[in-house]
Amino acid sequence: MPTARARRRPRGLNARRADKYDLYQRSVQQPEADVSLLRRLYRARAGRPPRDLREDFCGTALLACEWVRRIPNGRAWGIDLDPEPLEWGRERNLGALPPAKQQRVHLLRADVRSARTPPVDITVAFNFSYFLFKTRPELLAYFKKARTSLRRGGLFAIDVYGGADAQRRQTETRELEGFDYEWDQDLFDPITHDVTNHIHFDFPDGSRMRRAFSYEWRLWSLPELQELLREAGFRDVAVYWENTDTKTNEGNGVFTRREHAPDDPAWIAYVAGIR
Ligand SMILES: C[S@@+](CC[C@H](N)C(=O)[O-])C[C@H]1O[C@@H](n2cnc3c(N)ncnc32)[C@H](O)[C@@H]1O
Repeated sequence: MPTARARRRPRGLNARRADKYDLYQRSVQQPEADVSLLRRLYRARAGRPPRDLREDFCGTALLACEWVRRIPNGRAWGIDLDPEPLEWGRERNLGALPPAKQQRVHLLRADVRSARTPPVDITVAFNFSYFLFKTRPELLAYFKKARTSLRRGGLFAIDVYGGADAQRRQTETRELEGFDYEWDQDLFDPITHDVTNHIHFDFPDGSRMRRAFSYEWRLWSLPELQELLREAGFRDVAVYWENTDTKTNEGNGVFTRREHAPDDPAWIAYVAGIR
């Protein structure tokens, strides 16, 4: 029989016990880096620090909560259609903030194309969520809507991934504390650029959380996105490309505005436009 001490020992994660939103946040999201990047981009363009953020497709609103935690007097609006991640985020992310800061985060269950929020300094659509708009008219309509969510001089930022490796079926596994994260590019259609991607999680006991998250997207290109942002009325549309660490030859997490970039088989970049 196990002793009381042994019973209290934290048990390892497995597919049955693990929480998919917790695993997602730990594998995919880096809200500290996102807040630093957004603050730097906004300051460089607007000449003053930002205060208000709108996080479209917010899921668990991890970024909105980090924003309010870090930005003095910062306020944030998080918008998602799905009540489940919103509720999770309300309990776990919002609930972890001091009460005065909790009041400055507003979570809305709504479609990003129709949600009404007060004008903000920055609107973001991160982790490629806008890839779910698969046609030009749909994406253009969303970009126009994102533009009207901003104050004059406000910044809209999106992230993009690409490169030759993005255009083929492959899986990529990363070992994290207590579990493995697997990114599964299940489909790439060269004619339509339709992609189907899944996230699976594997555990030390051999159990697997298969297709914890699945995405049916269009893999948009940087030229298409810049054109659509300009067409939506944004001015000064810019691409931010990751700098390379000269010792390791790997990306160093610092993104700077660039007009051209060298060929790279797997890249992530940011694109931002000003209202
Ligand atoms: C890839 S997750 C992004 C989560 C988080 N923002 C991140 O950076 O990791 C996409 C989210 O978009 C939400 N979503 C999909 N279509 C939407 C729409 N039209 N309006 C609002 N949310 C939507 C989904 O419910 C899902 O939570």
